[in-house]
Amino acid sequence: MSISLHQRTLPTTLTDPYPKSPKFSQKPGSFLTRNNLLALFSLLIILGFLFPYISTTTPSSLFFSNSKIFESKWRAYTLSEAVAFVGTNGTVIVCAVSQPYLPFLNNWLISIVKQKHQDKVLVIAEDYVTLFKVNERWPGHAVLVPPAPDAQVAHKFGSQGFFNFTSRRPRHLLQILELGYNVMYNDVDMVWLADPFPYLQGKHDVYFMDDMIAVKPLNHSNALPPPGKKGRPYICSCMIYMRPTTGAKLVMKKWIEELQDQPWSKAKKANDQPGFNWALQKTAEQVDLYLLPQAAFPTGGLYFKNRTWVKETKGMQVIIHNNYIVGFEKKIKRFKEYGLWLVDDNASESPLGEIS
Ligand SMILES: *[C@@H]1O[C@H](CO)[C@@H](O)[C@H](O)[C@H]1NC(C)=O
Ligand SMILES: *[C@@H]1O[C@H](CO)[C@@H](O)[C@H](O)[C@H]1NC(C)=O
Ligand SMILES: *[C@@H]1O[C@H](CO)[C@@H](O)[C@H](O)[C@H]1NC(C)=O
Ligand SMILES: *[C@@H]1O[C@H](CO)[C@@H](O)[C@H](O)[C@H]1NC(C)=O
Ligand SMILES: *[C@@H]1O[C@H](CO)[C@@H](O)[C@H](O)[C@H]1NC(C)=O
Repeated sequence: MSISLHQRTLPTTLTDPYPKSPKFSQKPGSFLTRNNLLALFSLLIILGFLFPYISTTTPSSLFFSNSKIFESKWRAYTLSEAVAFVGTNGTVIVCAVSQPYLPFLNNWLISIVKQKHQDKVLVIAEDYVTLFKVNERWPGHAVLVPPAPDAQVAHKFGSQGFFNFTSRRPRHLLQILELGYNVMYNDVDMVWLADPFPYLQGKHDVYFMDDMIAVKPLNHSNALPPPGKKGRPYICSCMIYMRPTTGAKLVMKKWIEELQDQPWSKAKKANDQPGFNWALQKTAEQVDLYLLPQAAFPTGGLYFKNRTWVKETKGMQVIIHNNYIVGFEKKIKRFKEYGLWLVDDNASESPLGEIS
């Protein structure tokens, strides 16, 4: 146990491409360094000698103590510690994941590894299994912001549990902005085909992509689109990039307010996306908003459904979102059909390895 933990900390430190960053001194993983682990291990062995009743059950009690220590350490790990640890050049990439989404997390991560941005990825775990699984394989890259939502009810799209789960998102993002970091949020049913950062041009407050399937001209405006039938635009809450500006924080505060004002109801079966759109629309005058190009950031409703368009824009896509389809199995099947299910052949490239 201790040895495998130790080995797993190595990739994080070795692949740090920014040796000047304060990562080393701040590492929450510092508890798990070779020396500390050796010291801990020796201590436990000595205790075992001193107290024969422990040594009679040495293997299991050692494992038990170690995993207790491991768990309480990550339970106490805070969002600000986590952001300080993974933040690279003032930027973090976050996702929010509960256990059933782990295969999607891995798929998304592999695509990010290919673009060499994995070091700044922070997984906001929505349950303790996810927190421990990720940190066991990739120490410091998962954090849980208590209280953990009820795992049993958090997964069905349109359910109250799903609403409660996604309602936490603007709070986490606001907190990261308050810490002074640029933050990119992604849903994990996305795959990167190219590096999105060159597309985050200029100094705007909030960048996002449209969830509308209608084809736009390549030179479409980067302003917030006009409201649709429901009186608001249809921006996707799946991919958001923000700078730590007053404007971006205002959008997050407004989003939190909108979710409180229009709570989930059986009749509406809302998710958090309408709230995000109301927040964008209501703050548009005060905030510098930026709509990303459709050809690079298409909704799944366009990418997976209009082959003509995909041919016309071949090679221009940056992030693909597997939406406009409901259910894990269907999403996986579709990713496989399009060669975007990377976990089958490329799991070894993930910092999490094979994970289920
Ligand atoms: C760090 O951020 C600055 C400013 O945003 C950017 O110009 C630079 O390329 C970044 N460096 C790395 C190594 O990402
Ligand atoms: C969702 O949150 C509301 C308000 O906090 C709470 O009353 C409700 O029990 C939660 N529902 C689920 C299914 O988690
Ligand atoms: C896009 O290009 C078309 C044709 O070249 C032009 O008429 C139109 O004004 C352009 N639109 C924008 C928003 O620049
Ligand atoms: C599909 O894409 C083509 C090419 O961009 C476009 O002309 C057509 O209107 C699109 N079809 C639908 C149903 O949106
Ligand atoms: C991923 O898996 C495919 C299929 O096995 C392989 O050809 C490719 O080299 C792997 N690595 C990358 C970086 O795509």
